[in-house]
Amino acid sequence: MTASLEEVAYKLAAGGKGILAADESTSTIKKRFDAIGVESTFDNRRDYRELLFRSTEAMTDYISGVILYDETIRQKAKDGTPLVDLITQAGSIPGIKVDLGAKPQPGCPGETITEGLDGLGERFKEYYDLGARFAKWRAVIDIGADIPSYTSILANAQALARYAALAQAAGIVPIVEPEVLMDGDHDIDRCYDVTEWVLKEVFQQLFYGRVKLEGMVLKPNMAIAGKKSAKQASVAEVAEKTVKLLKNTVPPAVPSVAFLSGGQSDEEATAHLDAMIRAGALPWNLTFSYGRALQAAPQKAWSGKPENWAAGQAAFTHRARMNYLAALGQWTP
Ligand code: 13P
Repeated sequence: MTASLEEVAYKLAAGGKGILAADESTSTIKKRFDAIGVESTFDNRRDYRELLFRSTEAMTDYISGVILYDETIRQKAKDGTPLVDLITQAGSIPGIKVDLGAKPQPGCPGETITEGLDGLGERFKEYYDLGARFAKWRAVIDIGADIPSYTSILANAQALARYAALAQAAGIVPIVEPEVLMDGDHDIDRCYDVTEWVLKEVFQQLFYGRVKLEGMVLKPNMAIAGKKSAKQASVAEVAEKTVKLLKNTVPPAVPSVAFLSGGQSDEEATAHLDAMIRAGALPWNLTFSYGRALQAAPQKAWSGKPENWAAGQAAFTHRARMNYLAALGQWTP
């Protein structure tokens, strides 16, 4: 039987499980591979993703879904099994990144608009046939002296709403990801204010776009100080302000909220999630949808060497388990 949008959206963040964001574009995975001295070839990308998806404990017990890139959803493991089948055999759900990236927005210096709406309905049909049951679209909002502008927030929120409506029409759960970057020197309160503005606009546009909130997943940033800020916030403050932020902006009809890690260290990303869950009952299930905070450790342990395969899987399984415990509020450092 086909699972409904509501069932898939709920399942992605239930029981402490969370999402593995393994949807790095070819240029992004090249950057990650450069850092560990691995050439970014078609086969190396396949081998690395196969290592992750064959990590049985992680994929079965801790990972609810995997976001894939267009190349990966079509790729086969060394023995010819489609990578998508490795994911479903472990009981996890395959997903697909469908945006075509954030491009400079005319009239808005320093800001971007995410592209990829043309032909998206047709692409969704193909991705559904390839096994995708959820999707991701990432809008990028940067914080600076005079940004973000309302022009940019509105355009990005409208694009997210159009994407989400097209996804649901194709039977695919949209992950709605408006990422407010943590690259600047702003403090946590500025991040809070900008993210509040962005989320208010995103939910307004989702309403106008007739998106069913019960059949979507929100992927937000946390309320957190910029990496270059001299005033870093404590774990307790990030947790308290992020929960307050979400309560002020995210309707309880949304079943699942899955955070991005955004450049936090592995342990910070885990500690922040754990502290939020411990803070008390929430109207949505909160979990992780981490890219870097799940993969930095296995990439380093593997380093492209076949003899490090098991070490890479152990590192991935460890991070996945730590975040699973955090999503249950049971993590200890
Ligand atoms: P990070 O956790 O590395 O921020 O990646 C998550 C993601 O999917 C960004 O779009």
